[in-house]
Amino acid sequence: MPPRKIIIDTDPGQDDAVAILLALASPDEIDLLGITAVAGNVPLALTAKNARIVCELAGRPDVPVYAGCDAPLSRPLVTAEHVHGKTGLDGPTLPDPVMALQDRHAVDFLIETLRDEPSGSVSLCPLGPLTNIATALQRAPDIAGRIAEIVLMGGAYFEVGNITPTAEFNIYVDPEAADIVFKSGAPLTVMSLDVTHKALVTAPRNDAFRALETPVGRAVAQMTDFFERFDREKYGTDGAPLHDPCVTAYLIRPALFTGRHINVEIETRSPLTLGMTVADWWGVTDRAPNATFMGTIDADGFFALLTERLARL
Ligand code: BDR
Ligand code: CA
Repeated sequence: MPPRKIIIDTDPGQDDAVAILLALASPDEIDLLGITAVAGNVPLALTAKNARIVCELAGRPDVPVYAGCDAPLSRPLVTAEHVHGKTGLDGPTLPDPVMALQDRHAVDFLIETLRDEPSGSVSLCPLGPLTNIATALQRAPDIAGRIAEIVLMGGAYFEVGNITPTAEFNIYVDPEAADIVFKSGAPLTVMSLDVTHKALVTAPRNDAFRALETPVGRAVAQMTDFFERFDREKYGTDGAPLHDPCVTAYLIRPALFTGRHINVEIETRSPLTLGMTVADWWGVTDRAPNATFMGTIDADGFFALLTERLARL
């Protein structure tokens, strides 16, 4: 099978960084056409910079990086420096990027790529708020039918929420955008908190990254050291959940995950539950299924894959 063509839409973010590194380490399975940055964990200027820092860390300054939307469709931006630090990539000391940002806007790149490539050949991998993807779908509705699959990190059912009691961060930041994406009709695979909260970087798993004794292995271990303090304090778990790499791991080894094809709707109105992913996990409505909502992960298999792939960089 030829590698899957993908575009990663992202707000790095330490876990976004690991997701990108995993993609770049897996050329047999993944052909990364470009990275589109969006405002999320930190403002756009930083996410666009961090995406390039990560490409250079992987020795891939040739990957085109595009800056996209700097604010949600109709709300002020909410950021997450309390998790990711001031830069979004706190932890390792990494050099400023030398590679240039592309001139084209990320949304133009998304639309033009989906129109230029054969229909059904390009998948989108959103790892942050869905503003860029929704803007592309609003501006060019014809692309919805051309998307092979959208594999995104966002939402929760059993875990309910992380940024509010009922909402996961990526969906909460731009619920109107999420609503557009979930209603787009494009095939959707959702890596929810139900999955990512099982992908915990325990001390032995982080030691395995560090033991690679490469710049990538060390940087990943330091990133994880930094952002795990937040989740340890909050959840009392053994380590931080590595959310976004679940998306790229799914592209490489889908059998690591199980889920259900169900209806998922986004709450956009209630102040109390804004951004909630109302997932009909138990099939109690007659609403049509629109997403494969993942619920389990083989965490040991996931970390074995990640460590093995990062060793290649
Ligand atoms: C998501 O929010 C961000 O902080 C992470 O990068 C991840 O994409 C988890 O809720
Ligand atoms: Ca992210």
